[in-house]
Amino acid sequence: MNYSVKPCHTHEEFAACVRLQKQIWGYADREVYPLRLFINLAKIGGHVLGAFTPEGQVVGFVASMPAWHGRRRYYHSLSLGVLPEHENRGLGKALKLAQREDAIRRGLNCIEWTFDPLKAKNAFFNIERLGAIVRRYLADHYGPVESRLQQGLPTDRLIAEWWLESPRVIRALGGKAEQSESKNIAAEVSWVSNVGQLAETNPGRARAVQLAVREQFQKCFADKLVITGFVKGEYENRYLLSSEIGAELSAGDFEWRRKNASTLSVHED
Ligand SMILES: CC(C)(COP(=O)(O)OP(=O)(O)OC[C@H]1O[C@@H](n2cnc3c(N)ncnc32)[C@H](O)[C@@H]1OP(=O)(O)O)[C@@H](O)C(=O)NCCC(=O)NCCS
Repeated sequence: MNYSVKPCHTHEEFAACVRLQKQIWGYADREVYPLRLFINLAKIGGHVLGAFTPEGQVVGFVASMPAWHGRRRYYHSLSLGVLPEHENRGLGKALKLAQREDAIRRGLNCIEWTFDPLKAKNAFFNIERLGAIVRRYLADHYGPVESRLQQGLPTDRLIAEWWLESPRVIRALGGKAEQSESKNIAAEVSWVSNVGQLAETNPGRARAVQLAVREQFQKCFADKLVITGFVKGEYENRYLLSSEIGAELSAGDFEWRRKNASTLSVHED
């Protein structure tokens, strides 16, 4: 099937993106980004981009809003989702590429978003396929939510930073393997790959896995380590963390953020 990715314009297209949040995540009414926000994003320097079927059905979307760290401007990506029956056909990546293109056109060099550390697909997609890095952790960021993807666990989140024109990102988007295993790795954070299953059958055990991951990340980030790799395994998934990353990104803004990391706003997602 041929899809197209383009900005949403009509109220019906924005409303379709609001509905997608319920269909993809199973959020309650009070938890979705509302129609009026989406309508305004397009008018204030942000966007809502839709993935359309040839019949005009919106089956995925990404929404971004302008944000600041101090005087530095970036995009905060509010949400990215694709309907389950349209997943793994390249739509997620196509939406992120269109988002990146729009950010660069507006003179931005970074997009940030949050994601659940225990979702292996998202970790692989963000770190390996897109080339994002991570060095901040938010414990139970949203409090309890009804999303079925959350499976009743606290809403812990990692904050992805996507340095749009950095050598790392250009390499990742070009499909060049990062060869994570051979890089200079300072630490690893691993967890059992059946945590999703555990959350259904043994929630206490799943919660313990999440807590252990949280504590390890909090220590790693306090030690100024940065997630630069992800390896998915049959029984265990692993995040790989490095201490040397500045040169890899070669962005003055990144250095500025590193120095100011403790005071950066964590109002994300
Ligand atoms: C995350 C999401 C947007 C990706 O969309 P998508 O259209 O499936 O993405 P793509 O097809 O472009 O790429 C998915 C990649 O993940 C890989 N993948 C699929 N299942 C995987 C898994 N269980 N573990 C690791 N990687 C996996 C695919 O093989 C593909 O990689 P490839 O290009 O090397 O083949 C989509 O899965 C989604 O909507 N998830 C639910 C909402 C969500 O979690 N959003 C937050 C995103 S941070």
